[in-house]
Amino acid sequence: MILNDETVKKIKATVPIYPQRRSCILPALTLAYWQEGHLNDDIYREISDILDLKTVDVASAASFYTMFPKAPVGKYYIQVCHNISCALLGADSLIDYLAQKLGVKLGETTEDGLFTVVTVECLGSCTTAPVMQINNDYYENLTREKVDQILEDLRKQG
Ligand code: FES
Repeated sequence: MILNDETVKKIKATVPIYPQRRSCILPALTLAYWQEGHLNDDIYREISDILDLKTVDVASAASFYTMFPKAPVGKYYIQVCHNISCALLGADSLIDYLAQKLGVKLGETTEDGLFTVVTVECLGSCTTAPVMQINNDYYENLTREKVDQILEDLRKQG
């Protein structure tokens, strides 16, 4: 078992909250992600067992959400929006800059295990484009200088 007792207990506690068990999938995926830092097929199977649902339904729901990495990632999971508003304000250039600065390609993790960079669709903050999300925090109106400062601050935190 990958999911620990506490996570299993929390997933089971979602069942009475919703009219259909399928509605528990997203909370369950979130709880599993909080525990493990990523999701995978084994976790989908465990969630489907707990919720008495088909594994394919759990996996297909997870596949829709880029906020759930499907493999281990760095301590800081950097999701950079490359959708239209961000693209118009230089997201592609920022993404290239970020990858070059960290010495990784998209989807890769830095050797020190700190950073993983991916691109995502709209983060829902188009008025503050370009935007990236690092773990649970948004960083908005990005410039190269801001990216430099953010990375420096995160490196100090280790
Ligand atoms: S297009 Fe980037 S946040 Fe919406």
